[in-house]
Amino acid sequence: MKHSIVLLPGDGIGPEIVEQARLVLVAIAERFGHEFTFSSQQIGGIAIDETGDPLPQATVDACRSASAILLGAVGGPKWDDPSAKTRPEAGLLRIRKELGLFANLRPIKLFDQLADASPLRADIVKGTDILFFRELTGGIYFGESGSSGEGEDETAFQSMTYSRSEVKRIVRMAAQAARGRSNRLTSVDKANVLEPSRLWRRVAAEVMAEEFPDVNYDVVLVDAMAMHLINRPADFDVVVTGNMFGDILTDEASMLPGSLGMLPSASLGESGPGLYEPIHGSAPDIAGKGVANPLATILAAAMMLRHSMSLNEEADLIEAAVAEVLADGLRTSDLARGDSESAVGTEAMGAAVVAKIAK
Ligand code: NAD
Ligand code: IPM
Ligand code: MN
Repeated sequence: MKHSIVLLPGDGIGPEIVEQARLVLVAIAERFGHEFTFSSQQIGGIAIDETGDPLPQATVDACRSASAILLGAVGGPKWDDPSAKTRPEAGLLRIRKELGLFANLRPIKLFDQLADASPLRADIVKGTDILFFRELTGGIYFGESGSSGEGEDETAFQSMTYSRSEVKRIVRMAAQAARGRSNRLTSVDKANVLEPSRLWRRVAAEVMAEEFPDVNYDVVLVDAMAMHLINRPADFDVVVTGNMFGDILTDEASMLPGSLGMLPSASLGESGPGLYEPIHGSAPDIAGKGVANPLATILAAAMMLRHSMSLNEEADLIEAAVAEVLADGLRTSDLARGDSESAVGTEAMGAAVVAKIAK
């Protein structure tokens, strides 16, 4: 099968980790006789430097006609000036919006081989297998914003809005996924304080009662959820929540499997290409050192094969290869916890996964 993949390496560790995921995809293509074509496009800080725009039109055009998109990360201190005209992150928000990628799937799955890598006790994290559905093109991220006044009178605001249709489509998608898993869905909101959360809670309850009466459904407030996640993570199955809550809770949840460097994500819409990326950022503190963990991006490539190309066997093989290299004891420094001497680098980790696939 032929598939065209747009690579958006971006900034910081982005190019290092995307290259390892590309090599894994090449190994898959060779083993299964597929034809993957790759085209690299600019996004983020590098795109600002070269074109003045964090999302050049050429990138949008290439993404629209691709089978799928694999992104590294955007952002970094070079572009952090709060008074700058534009930011790398604006490019990422725009591509999500332009392609209608309203659902961000973030699986939090434990590799048994990494039970010791979590800062939490093994008996607490054991059995964790959560699938987050983070709403990705609405809420406070896309609310009206502005600032006014000067000196001590300066103010700034950013509003949070959700519509019925935005809530319905993400809740539906999450509930469908729950049916294929343990049939449990938890919706997370802040309905005790926020008006859009009250709408979210009402609409979610309607959708669940009318269309998914068979799915076990409950609601949890976001502050309590932050606590439950590290106290009893194994109790959750599918979790659906808004844009900002989902962003924060999934970085927190990354400590269950042991590192932000392990968590992939898929951003999907009703139709068109999906965008796949690690949930972590450009890690400026380790960029260029060759030590970043490429596994989140490699696992994102597996999600891409599964969701955008229906290549399930190939996706399973990548995940099995990752489990095997971990079972062999390979650890990048983020996973090595106190034993960074024996840690392997980005390329060695990528090559080990490729070797498992190629054999
Ligand atoms: P970050 O996720 O980049 O890094 C947080 C910490 O995790 C750092 O110590 C980093 O070294 C570590 N880390 C992250 N990924 C790792 C990996 N693969 N291997 C090993 N260690 C890893 O978050 P930050 O430092 O708060 O943000 C840095 C920049 O990244 C900011 O400009 C932010 O806006 C951007 N960002 C981008 C994305 C994205 O492109 N999707 C996501 C999050 C943050
Ligand atoms: C993520 C990131 C982005 C977000 C930023 C970089 C715009 O943190 O993908 O989780 O907040 O969505
Ligand atoms: Mn984030």
